[in-house]
Amino acid sequence: MKKVFLTRKIFPEAMERLSRAAEVEVWPESFPPPLEVLLEKARLADGLMTMLSDPITSEVIQVGSQNHLKVISQMAVGYDNIALPAATSAGIPVGNTPGVLTETTADLAWALLMAAARRVVEGNNEVHQGIWRAWGPDVLCGVDIYGATLGLIGFGRIGQAMAARAKGFNMRVLYTQRHRDLAAEEKYQAVFVPLQELLMQSDFVSLHAYLSDETRGLMGATQFKLMKPGAILINTARGAMIDQAALAQSLLRGKLAAAALDVYIPEPIPQYSPLLKMPQVIITPHIGSASRKTRLLMAQMTVENMEAGLAGKRLPYCANPEVYGNLK
Ligand code: DGY
Repeated sequence: MKKVFLTRKIFPEAMERLSRAAEVEVWPESFPPPLEVLLEKARLADGLMTMLSDPITSEVIQVGSQNHLKVISQMAVGYDNIALPAATSAGIPVGNTPGVLTETTADLAWALLMAAARRVVEGNNEVHQGIWRAWGPDVLCGVDIYGATLGLIGFGRIGQAMAARAKGFNMRVLYTQRHRDLAAEEKYQAVFVPLQELLMQSDFVSLHAYLSDETRGLMGATQFKLMKPGAILINTARGAMIDQAALAQSLLRGKLAAAALDVYIPEPIPQYSPLLKMPQVIITPHIGSASRKTRLLMAQMTVENMEAGLAGKRLPYCANPEVYGNLK
């Protein structure tokens, strides 16, 4: 029977199906296996079933390809933790889970936007800690969402799902990305603008791009200076798009009113991070796709990719389809 190394426990329904296709070894911890473990497992396994926090380096892929690794199936839409070019040149297909988490992730981004705007977490903490004494004209005043301007960096599936939500709040929607999308512009009455313009005009800026060389460090001191005073930043995409030190400075100086981050570098964020000391910063533990329904669907897609890869068939959801041109 083929061997699969699975880097985290998954729902029993998905596990049962995976166990029918392979002999599965599961990493028992709730944190990612260290590189040495991945190297050892890549040497022994036919398939690696991975999570977005696992370092699937070119070394891991090389060790796998020198042995009998046939497929890497990741339970995430993003795969920036995987050395994709190395996998492609080794002829190893990499699976991911596109599409399935769009609405769930947009729901969380929307929840963060609303919570940051209306200071929900600060209010909750004040009540829990017995700090709140009485209703007051200036107590925890936030900003209005209805009728405000939302700037979306990245206008793919999740960006567009945010635009759909913004419609119900009568918001003006701006977006920026490498290419204009005329059909989506019309559908959501969204306006394409360069990044600079988007930063200068938006009350809320929300990140929905893929992490790439172009988007890594996209939001730094220069960009924060361009943002509207009192604007709010939301990130449910990838932490590496933001220079966190520059963000902390901008919040300390009162340029930005608040930030809400579901992703950051590293994850978990170190306890000494100044962002953790700021009541106007909401930080959630990378739960964008974390509804039970979506996580189960993601697990099932990951198993489907694994089954196909082990059987030498084309992966139904493949992050490097060009690999099929390289397969012998
Ligand atoms: C992904 O799948 O890339 C998301 O970040 C998971 O929540």
